[in-house]
Amino acid sequence: MFLKPGSNRVVLWAILQIGLGIIVISQGCCRLFPVLQFIHVEHIHLTRQLRLLNQLGVDVWVHRTTDRLWSADSAVPVSPPETDDIPGRDSLVPTSLEEIEKAVRSCEKCPLHQTRTRTVFGSGCPDADWLFVGEAPGAQEDRQGKPFVGRAGKLLDLMIAALGLHRSEVYIANVLKCRPPNNRDPRPDEVVQCEHYLQHQLALVRPKIIVALGLTATRALLKTNRGFRELRGSVHAYGDQDIPLVATYHPAYLLRNPGQKSKSWEDLWLAKTSIQAS
Ligand code: URA
Repeated sequence: MFLKPGSNRVVLWAILQIGLGIIVISQGCCRLFPVLQFIHVEHIHLTRQLRLLNQLGVDVWVHRTTDRLWSADSAVPVSPPETDDIPGRDSLVPTSLEEIEKAVRSCEKCPLHQTRTRTVFGSGCPDADWLFVGEAPGAQEDRQGKPFVGRAGKLLDLMIAALGLHRSEVYIANVLKCRPPNNRDPRPDEVVQCEHYLQHQLALVRPKIIVALGLTATRALLKTNRGFRELRGSVHAYGDQDIPLVATYHPAYLLRNPGQKSKSWEDLWLAKTSIQAS
């Protein structure tokens, strides 16, 4: 190859441009990686597994009968946390998360205390901007006393990482603090007995955004029986403080329906932009 005089500069310039291009693209990829990981992890594996199960005639996904919750349609705003209904502390306003956690540990308001191994209060940063609310502890959570530590929890970690955050930077809680036997759906009376703990947690953490994971959490927080399709895709206001609330799919549902992960990413993006706009 022959180069004309002066063409060295052109070659150097081209190399520099290509190098810069590679740096920009790789930085973009690094940012995108957690998002892609969240959207694609297990997709191939699960698709194959579902196909096999379908071929075997196995019903893989049974929709949970959460319609039992909140039978009257009421887009009623959530009432402010009541301050006098923590057992044993009737006249005291809880001033710290530790105080509510203590009350939860000794709670016997509903029969779930008879079957629980440990209460699952919540975990994370006490003044987090992001607060994720799930439904109820599962088997592993019941054993460890921490929310979202099983497979659904691993996916939640990926969702959080896709937002550029770590679990320790957000707060994670559930509507129920005790595991329903055999992971059955929470009963409306259990939700009512337990919801004040969550209300206090929300009032103390005062997040900039609440992400409700799944129908049960969304309905419990917004006190509505509206369908999930209606509830997804917009920013709701929680409580007197009007904390923005976005509903998305529960990670356990996403494990069964990985094709919906991109929709979940849309929800998380909506939540992120609503924080940035505030
Ligand atoms: N599912 C939930 O809703 N919460 C947990 O903590 C674990 C699984």
